[in-house]
Amino acid sequence: MSNIGSYEERVKNFNWKISEDELSYNAGDVINIGWYCSDRICQMGKADKLAMIWEGLGGKEKKYTFDDVRIKSNVIAQFLRDLGIKNEDRVCLFMDKIPELYFGCLGILKIGAIAQPLFSAFGDESLHVRLENAETNTIITQKKHVSKVRKILEKMPYLKHIVVVDDDGRKPLRERELAFNMDEAEDVNQFEIFPTKAESPSILHYTSGTTGQPKGVKHVHYSLISQYLTTKWVLDLQENDIYWCTADPGWVTGTSYGIIGPWSLGITQCVLDTGFGADSWYRFIEKNKISMWYSAPTAIRSLMKAGDEVVEKYDLSSLRHLASVGEPLNAEAVIWSEKVFGLPFYDTYWQTETGSMMICNFPGMKVKPGSMGKTVPGVTGGIVDPETFEEITEPNKGGLIAFRPGWPAMMRSYWNNEETYQSKFKNGWYIPGDKSTIDGDGYFWFMGRDDDIINTGGHLVSPFEVESALLEHESIAESAVVAKPDMVNMEVVKAFVTLNAGFKPTEELELEIMNFIRKRLSPLAMPQEIEYLEKLPKTRSGKIMRRLLRAQEWGEEIGDTSTLEDD
Ligand code: WT7
Repeated sequence: MSNIGSYEERVKNFNWKISEDELSYNAGDVINIGWYCSDRICQMGKADKLAMIWEGLGGKEKKYTFDDVRIKSNVIAQFLRDLGIKNEDRVCLFMDKIPELYFGCLGILKIGAIAQPLFSAFGDESLHVRLENAETNTIITQKKHVSKVRKILEKMPYLKHIVVVDDDGRKPLRERELAFNMDEAEDVNQFEIFPTKAESPSILHYTSGTTGQPKGVKHVHYSLISQYLTTKWVLDLQENDIYWCTADPGWVTGTSYGIIGPWSLGITQCVLDTGFGADSWYRFIEKNKISMWYSAPTAIRSLMKAGDEVVEKYDLSSLRHLASVGEPLNAEAVIWSEKVFGLPFYDTYWQTETGSMMICNFPGMKVKPGSMGKTVPGVTGGIVDPETFEEITEPNKGGLIAFRPGWPAMMRSYWNNEETYQSKFKNGWYIPGDKSTIDGDGYFWFMGRDDDIINTGGHLVSPFEVESALLEHESIAESAVVAKPDMVNMEVVKAFVTLNAGFKPTEELELEIMNFIRKRLSPLAMPQEIEYLEKLPKTRSGKIMRRLLRAQEWGEEIGDTSTLEDD
């Protein structure tokens, strides 16, 4: 029996109080995610239950019980408090998927500070704009990433402490750097948790914008109410499940469903801190007897590409439920997974801003391959006309996805950017910026984004950020960045550039520019192709027409070009 039972019944009788009651939360109470994910689980008699099975490079394994999670998060919380970090201060987590990242996140929440997780593959420029926007005062990182922080240190007077969790004392630490080894620190058994309330800020995730710098999406402790219940009803996690969320906590899936969801339910989860590999992933599932697996379409398509024979080498019979998020999950991938695993991937749709799942395929519900499913109980959603923002009720007609605000995990603001935040609301709806149709049975079918943002392998990349970084390269005069189709990643970054006098459009230069972006921004933002042009297509008012370049890449109709600059 699935946790949700009947989807229709749940929708009919829905009240967020169901989640509040299960979490023994009453309006006005203290609510702290750090406490809910560790101390409370221990108090419920699960102190000795495994919370995390971690595996790193070379098969190195570490296991932690819920009591370990409680103590380790206390240790880091105490350390931060002793440093003078206060509630609502921003503390950045800049680490690979090592255990310290998970404990660190809960520790930060326990002192009422705001956790700002950033993907550890970010280069110095990506790191800088996000730390600057949040005026982060502490960053917790690893030796291997500290050089990126050092590079931008002078530009960040507000950054007071750089905490290095794996310092071996061999090289001297520099200005503002501190070594702190969580394993060697003394246990902290009792810790006075900061009494955060529902609206106290919890996590600040950065997401790419279309025209401006990345936006800091502010979440609050009350988000737990949504995250707990969707984990239970959509991922269907049950007491004896072994769960694997493949996402990195640098992105929202990795916190909402890679820390908060499973641990607030007291579920054992696995973390694999190595890159993608079909064999290594299947071996990981076999070895840990993983039963519930939450992943992403690009990973599924990569597994598909690796072939059915690889699947047959492993005993994957422990799997009982699969789900996916981040980008369109094509019907072929769902049908393939049914064939090789005997289970379809259940698509889920949501975004950094929504904080929790919004449109999903639920256990027990008929899966229509290629559809994102239906709205989560407690969420009112539909599609609206892009001009009038009036709801479209006619089936199979395209429009903008829209949700009525008010679910617990909804972002509370964009950090220091109220104007952009307000622009997301129209006619009483929150508009996430995606297009979809709804069929006669209420299933959503994703059509595409309503902006120029590139979704590569489930990660959003802003063309604006890449274009700006390209212009910093000495050879580049102008740039335009668009998505280009890709079999596995669905979309990859492609750049069109014009060169400054004296530079030749060579292959070497292309490689040099690619590398330049990879280092400054990240491997995700690196263009997979650079095309040299004599001049970029522009409107008469001088705006670069990305639309035209994009249409060319996708073999689409170019559409109206009446505003195009004449030759
Ligand atoms: C954007 C949000 C939320 C977790 C990771 C991404 C796209 C997300 C789906 C899906 C088609 C999807 C949308 C959305 N997206 N899920 N199931 N089908 N597209 O979070 O980085 O904030 O990206 O990813 O365009 O707006 P994010």
